[in-house]
Amino acid sequence: MAVVVCVTGAGGFIGSWIVKLLLARGYAVRGTSRRADDPKKNAHLRELDGAAERLTMVRVDLLDRASLRAAFDGCDGVIHTASPMHDIPEEIIEPVITGTLNVVEVAADAGVRRVVYCSTIGTMYMDPNRDPDALLDESCWSDLDYCKNTKHWYCYAKTIAEKRAWEAATARGLDLAAVIPVMVLGELLQPEMNTSTTHILKYLTGEATTYVNASHAYVHVGDPPAARGGVRGAPGAGGRRYVCAERTLHRGELCRILADLFPEYPVPTRCRDEVNPPKKGYKFTNQPLKDLGVKFRPVHQYLYEAVKSLEEKGFIKKTSNTKALHVQSSPNCQRPC
Ligand SMILES: NC(=O)c1ccc[n+]([C@@H]2O[C@H](COP(=O)([O-])OP(=O)(O)OC[C@H]3O[C@@H](n4cnc5c(N)ncnc54)[C@H](OP(=O)(O)O)[C@@H]3O)[C@@H](O)[C@H]2O)c1
Repeated sequence: MAVVVCVTGAGGFIGSWIVKLLLARGYAVRGTSRRADDPKKNAHLRELDGAAERLTMVRVDLLDRASLRAAFDGCDGVIHTASPMHDIPEEIIEPVITGTLNVVEVAADAGVRRVVYCSTIGTMYMDPNRDPDALLDESCWSDLDYCKNTKHWYCYAKTIAEKRAWEAATARGLDLAAVIPVMVLGELLQPEMNTSTTHILKYLTGEATTYVNASHAYVHVGDPPAARGGVRGAPGAGGRRYVCAERTLHRGELCRILADLFPEYPVPTRCRDEVNPPKKGYKFTNQPLKDLGVKFRPVHQYLYEAVKSLEEKGFIKKTSNTKALHVQSSPNCQRPC
């Protein structure tokens, strides 16, 4: 019988890719959603190869432990991705902090072998006193007062949630690992727009006429699922925090790549800040995930796939004269940046 893995937030941007990967690897998947019965929200999952035989969807509210108990019963693993992604404190604190603690506690009660938690780089780098030249590693935590004072409620909630998850897992003897993605881009499997894709959408629609003076790290949407697969399966991989990032780019470089791939869109060419030098991003290492077999896909690929999927789903107007994609590794994609 197939090994059962539960994926919370299964129909989301990253969750859908996790379900796809698990089904392709022969697992039975129990996907959770607050809207498990909504035919539109999760219909795309039913179309994945293997879904008819090995995917079941269950309705779960992260604040309702009974619904989590039913979902985790008989599962070998849990991959927890369900989370709101915004900065409205009244709506984010409870599902992220209490919801994640509930997942860990119920998984421990249910005898789940390993929980992989989908954290975020926002739990690591939001610290004004951090040495900007130091690599972010698993010992780095965001400063809660700084997150609060700057109203970064998503980073605030996710930082507390991950810390409490580690404390609870240690207390309960549960095998936990955290995969920590940066800005995730690529093909949308789900029908709805997701938060990280709006990061590039505004550059394609003409809504943004300049870009900000900022740098972020990016990763292909298929790589966090691959990372979770690697972390889930490797015997000694528990108990660690894995940064899941391909490279850091200044927004100007991101816009240049987009404009080069898709010259027919009004991608901005000017920085909003014409005074200061380009801001550098945080540095990281993705070596621990490479050691588990994760091969990070290059930026041209995930930007290309993201835009093509935005066209196919009608979020932007389809055009015909796009350059063919020649996926290439940039010289710096193999080093920590
Ligand atoms: N995308 C990124 O760039 C990025 C980067 C770093 C970390 N992450 C993390 O990756 C995970 C998935 O992100 P994503 O981009 O796939 O997001 P997404 O597309 O918005 O999917 C998240 C799913 O979580 C569920 N959810 C949303 N609000 C919820 C709430 N209040 N209570 C319970 N469930 C809720 C929703 O499923 P239902 O409506 O079906 O319940 C939703 O489909 C999150 O934990 C996020 O923090 C994402």
